[in-house]
Amino acid sequence: MDYLKIKGGAPLNGTIKIGGAKNAALPLLFSTLLCEGEHTLTNVPQLEDIRSTQKLLEELGLSWEKSGDKVTITRPQKINTLAPYNLVRKMRASILCLGPILAREGYAKVSLPGGCAIGSRPIDLHLEALKKMGAEIEITAGYVIAKCAKLKGTDIYFDFPTVGGTENILMAATLAEGTTHIQNAAREPEIVNLADQLIAMGAQISGAGSSTITIEGVTSLKPCSHKVRPDRIVAGTYICAGAMTQGTLRVEGFNPEDLKAFLEKLKKVEVQFDLEDHAITVTSSTIQSTDMQTQPHPGFPTDLQAQYMAMMCLAPGRTQISENIFENRFMHVQELERLGANIKIEANKALVTGGTQLTGAPVMATDLRASACLVLAGLVAHGTTEIRRIYHLDRGYAGLVEKLQSVGAQIERLSE
Ligand code: UD1
Repeated sequence: MDYLKIKGGAPLNGTIKIGGAKNAALPLLFSTLLCEGEHTLTNVPQLEDIRSTQKLLEELGLSWEKSGDKVTITRPQKINTLAPYNLVRKMRASILCLGPILAREGYAKVSLPGGCAIGSRPIDLHLEALKKMGAEIEITAGYVIAKCAKLKGTDIYFDFPTVGGTENILMAATLAEGTTHIQNAAREPEIVNLADQLIAMGAQISGAGSSTITIEGVTSLKPCSHKVRPDRIVAGTYICAGAMTQGTLRVEGFNPEDLKAFLEKLKKVEVQFDLEDHAITVTSSTIQSTDMQTQPHPGFPTDLQAQYMAMMCLAPGRTQISENIFENRFMHVQELERLGANIKIEANKALVTGGTQLTGAPVMATDLRASACLVLAGLVAHGTTEIRRIYHLDRGYAGLVEKLQSVGAQIERLSE
């Protein structure tokens, strides 16, 4: 099993380039299920979750060819409609195959993805919406079985602006009969990326990026070539690294518009930075404590909560961090405490008393963003930090070790 060894305290100087976003690539890849032919995606990151998606799409009968960051997927006319447990369990986002398979094939059998470290993560909102569109849904032996000869457009109101739910229904509604309005839709940039791809495939969609999306169903779609949007969460993670370490770090190739709430918070905590159209340069900063709460987009992203907490460990005084999206997303707290952080949890709030020097220790990654938070803490801790279970990092951070090494971090990946 691989682990990371970090010797803290090195200043980070240089440039880190941001690749395509995992969370944007996944729905784009699953949307190829909607129509036969050759689909091309560029700026696809090299990540474990992308490999899991490849395996699932291949199991469903699609073929996959990769050349650099370009992936060509060929969807035959006839596909399998069963997404089995052994593949779905590896990645929760596999549930995104449900909407497109059902819309196109009239039948889908998809394993329930199950819970994960950060919470139970049900899919009830996806299923309720598909039912409202006319699907008959049964849950048997751990599988969702959905049937409907032709989905019907309707008004859908999400109790919570679910990202995956919005994506599943957006894809399904493109081939439904009539008009679908998704209200209280998620507004994440990844939704806009997906809608743009579907529009290029011939779908009729308006309002993506706002809380009401309207989809006029069409009878068929055609394949297209599309680019995966840059990863705003990975960009935010490296920006935190720049703010926390002494040096001058440029992070380029992302869209600052996608990170507005995070960048506003950065100003409040008095991080020094220069912003350009697609880049930011962060200089060594004395970080101040500022409370933060996660919110659906355009609020502060839950996927940067753990990294923000690592940064607040450096800020003298007390910071309250409220997690409003996931019920159990403070798994990194006990690991940060192993490095000497002082954090108390009360329900969905973490109270960080910062400003004391962190000290290296062996720690365990519990989920993807928690792993990133531990890397950040390790970069500033006194002495050596070893992070185990880094397979979580491989799901979402392409070339993290090489990128950090290239700007001066003393980090290596070793095998037990
Ligand atoms: C996506 C992102 C993930 C991010 C999250 C919130 C991908 C692949 N993953 O996850 O990185 O942290 O958005 O920004 O894009 N919920 C229900 N019922 C449902 C669906 C969701 O109760 O049917 C709840 C979830 O348990 C969670 C909240 O709603 O508490 C948000 O979930 P959702 O927005 O659906 O997140 P994901 O799409 O799973």
